[in-house]
Amino acid sequence: MGEPLNLEALKQQAAVRATDLVRSGMRVGLGTGSTAKYAIEEIGRRVGSGELTGIVGVATSEASDVLARQVGIVVEPLDPRPLDIAIDGADEIDPQLDLIKGLGGALLREKLTEIQTGTLVIIADHTKTVAHLGQKAPVPIEIARFGFLSTIERLRAILPGGRLRQPGAQPYVTDNGNYIYDGQLPPEFDPAVLERQLKGTLGVVETGFFLGMATHAFVAAPDGVQEYR
Ligand code: 5RP
Repeated sequence: MGEPLNLEALKQQAAVRATDLVRSGMRVGLGTGSTAKYAIEEIGRRVGSGELTGIVGVATSEASDVLARQVGIVVEPLDPRPLDIAIDGADEIDPQLDLIKGLGGALLREKLTEIQTGTLVIIADHTKTVAHLGQKAPVPIEIARFGFLSTIERLRAILPGGRLRQPGAQPYVTDNGNYIYDGQLPPEFDPAVLERQLKGTLGVVETGFFLGMATHAFVAAPDGVQEYR
């Protein structure tokens, strides 16, 4: 019997499988987080070895932009051109490949980027799969800083259990200069209805519901990597 696989090894396995879908000349959306990091590193490795040429990365966060450049990927800002593929992690993945994203704080740039591809590939370890969204994770909601206490009051009327993300003395600030409200989800809800309600709330910039966007998922478990479409 070998050593049991740790989660980091699983994340890396999923990332390597997703990177197999990247071809030379592609414009690639680069996700954010501890799983997406492995995909960026693997793409960089293949660029460095000459296996992939002409790759342009579009980063979904300042951190991923820095990492991509460090590993030798050419990075360009998001523009209206479509992306051939995007690879990113998720906090929850349901059987329809609807997602909760944004515990890493990059949900707005991720959604802006990933809406521009017909091939959004999600990579994760098996702890991220759920029967229905909200089983494990809150839904991160990016809100404007101006008047945030008023926005939170409006959000609490919809999701009472939530809280402003505040890891220390100060609230967490996104790359876009906004705050995040982590909304606690009720046992039963319709994600599409809730998403519309949240997006219609004054002060909300974006939510971490990624519905109908993912086309593939590679989920790594100790017994291997499963592909879902
Ligand atoms: C960042 C995200 C991440 O993809 C998500 O939080 C998963 O991160 P990790 O791979 O570190 O678990 O949505 O905004």
